Amino acid sequence: MLPQWIIEKKRDGNALTEEEIRFLIEGYTKEEIPDYQMAAFAMAVYFKGMTFEEMAILTDAMMRSGDLVDTSSIKLPKADKHSTGGIGDKVSLVLAPLIACCGIAVPMVSGRGLGITGGTLDKLESIPGYRTDLSEREFVDTIDKCGCSITGQTGQLAPADKKLYALRDVTGTVPSIPLIVASIMSKKMAEGIDSLVLDVKWGKGAFMQTMEDARELAHNMVEVGVCMGKNMTALLTGMNQPLGRTAGNALEVIESIEALKGNGPADLMQVTLELCGHMLLLSKKASDIKEAKGILLSHIESGEALERFKQMVGLQGGDPASIDDISKLPRAATQEPVSSSESGYIAAVDAEKIGRACILLGAGRKRTEDAVDFAVGVSDILKIGDKVQRGDKLLTVHANDPASCSEAVAMTREAFAFSEAPVESPELINEIVTPKGS
Ligand code: URA
Repeated sequence: MLPQWIIEKKRDGNALTEEEIRFLIEGYTKEEIPDYQMAAFAMAVYFKGMTFEEMAILTDAMMRSGDLVDTSSIKLPKADKHSTGGIGDKVSLVLAPLIACCGIAVPMVSGRGLGITGGTLDKLESIPGYRTDLSEREFVDTIDKCGCSITGQTGQLAPADKKLYALRDVTGTVPSIPLIVASIMSKKMAEGIDSLVLDVKWGKGAFMQTMEDARELAHNMVEVGVCMGKNMTALLTGMNQPLGRTAGNALEVIESIEALKGNGPADLMQVTLELCGHMLLLSKKASDIKEAKGILLSHIESGEALERFKQMVGLQGGDPASIDDISKLPRAATQEPVSSSESGYIAAVDAEKIGRACILLGAGRKRTEDAVDFAVGVSDILKIGDKVQRGDKLLTVHANDPASCSEAVAMTREAFAFSEAPVESPELINEIVTPKGS
């Protein structure tokens, strides 16, 4: 078998066999197949797509390209959540400790910021000392002690995806549903979980711009997960305005701490409780979503969820005192209010523009090798439907240098659109995708 024969077969729109897909992924992982052939293959998939069976085999081959996390010593049910990412999406920080309180272990391998969307690891690293490079032993020990751990992908977890993702990033082949399915699911399936809930976001601040694309991605990921023996549910959620009232690493940690204390903004709490609720249902810890939400709220009200978060932070080398005293978290030199030039109701908050402003401030990376500034970002973001008078504050820009501050002020002001008539806040949770026939 030669790689070029497989590339030609896909280029001509034919389905590949299991042997052919495994040959490509194994060869690429062992560096026997060069980047240029893999790039041609990715482009052929981009144009010709893949059958569902091919997608499932590709996911399995990429998952088996490296180590599988051995979570067999953990006797609790194991569940995780994956979000396709958005602006202000800090759900994982609230969800992992909250789920741990319910007797479900959460082995969460997370990522860094991608494009304009923030990354869970960058947010957590704004807590002084927090480590995201745990060994497998440290990862499993942390889960044993506090029920959850959030760490980064090691070189041994789905290495084929690590290589292929970097290649797709520079060859125009990222937005391909089969390649996204295999990329996300190969990493999640290597975590040793029983159940997975997906938050597939759509809209201006998300990877998938339309609900139709998000639905197709969600259906395929759910079915691939089921084929691999996992309990699966996906939610389609809107990302046409930022989630919560902050975007930026330490600012989002502060908002997550507030959420764990029961003071989170309504939209963040709605998405978090819905995702957590479905994790409880899949893990058979509740019989309906109402009961699940009651259980979850009781763990917030008792203070246990916040306590678990503090425990996880401490076990991963972070300073738990900074959770009680947020003045120990990074703070930017300047806080600049952005005021409204109009009176009326907020009709739109362009999540993409807010995300771009955060990148300008340094909250995300312009190049992969860049360091992020944990302190900068935006807070107090008003939401669609809020009523404002001319001169009212729309948000606060947190900056560490004057040039990026004034650029971010202009850009974030442009993110808002107004209406004279009252505006309904948009539906946040659009659909729940379950396996076919369930
Ligand atoms: N996130 C991933 O991990 N992979 C993709 O292909 C897209 C988003």
